[in-house]
Amino acid sequence: MLAAIPRAADADLLVGAETADDAAVYRISADQAVVFTVDFFTPVVDDPYQFGRIAAANSLSDTWAMGGEPRLALNIVAFPSRTLPLATLQEILRGGAETAAEAGVLVAGGHSIDDPEPKYGMAVIGFVHPDSIVTNVGARPGDTLVLTKPLGTGIITTAIKEGAASQETIAEAIRVMTALNRGAARAVQRVGASAATDVTGFGLLGHLREMLAGGGIGARVRLSQVPVIEQTRELVRAGVCPGGTRRNLASVACQVDFAPDLDEAARLFLCDAQTSGGLLVAVSPEKADSFVQALRAEQTLAAAIIGEITSDPAARIRAEA
Ligand code: CO
Ligand code: CO
Repeated sequence: MLAAIPRAADADLLVGAETADDAAVYRISADQAVVFTVDFFTPVVDDPYQFGRIAAANSLSDTWAMGGEPRLALNIVAFPSRTLPLATLQEILRGGAETAAEAGVLVAGGHSIDDPEPKYGMAVIGFVHPDSIVTNVGARPGDTLVLTKPLGTGIITTAIKEGAASQETIAEAIRVMTALNRGAARAVQRVGASAATDVTGFGLLGHLREMLAGGGIGARVRLSQVPVIEQTRELVRAGVCPGGTRRNLASVACQVDFAPDLDEAARLFLCDAQTSGGLLVAVSPEKADSFVQALRAEQTLAAAIIGEITSDPAARIRAEA
């Protein structure tokens, strides 16, 4: 989609649009670079305050995924001021502000427009030492793949829209989506990683595929080791599935060898379009144990070894039970 846009060329643009990376990184001095990212979307839960918290956590996540520390944010707001009470917008912004404060990020302003469908997110600026940047390419054969949050938020947010999610399930999805990826990012910085990205709209396999774009590598993933929000299992069995998740599966299918015992539901889990998902990290096998320990110390929602990077010129993903 972005292929037709002229590429920015500048020696200080350390990460631009060439890789499907989470944020742009621009060097401003020998020991400091700016990490710049923007994200916004339509409500995924009914509670406007929780929606604000989720959208902010999601926007900040791309900074952490690059190894950066978010510092400043601007709100991006679309709101139907003639049909919804202004108090709803205030609740969205309160949620965003609280999450930003939790992350030590200053919300320095923003921009709003009138729009029939509410949308909220943030443009975020963070900082990183140029030597500490972690991109989504750079994984090497033998690297261990680790995931820091359970999957399933796409299935649950669809169930919410269909009125099929219990209060308990909604609460669990909110807990997962509002959890900050800061702890996971700290573990990456402490232990060192070959590559990292956050799992969002393209699902686990879609973002894993981006990680393979560096060339010469493939991956193996074992579903039994992939953490999943428990309540999503019965929702999928009941036929709840986001359109985006089905599109993700169709899009990666040509690059994935699914073991024959992985049924449709299992394949959909691996492609579920996440909102504010966890970090997917490739670490060298010698560091895998200390990385998992570091994640546990940071109390990330998951610290699961889900597979490994393989040597494969065809960049194929093998998904096993
Ligand atoms: Co991202
Ligand atoms: Co993003």
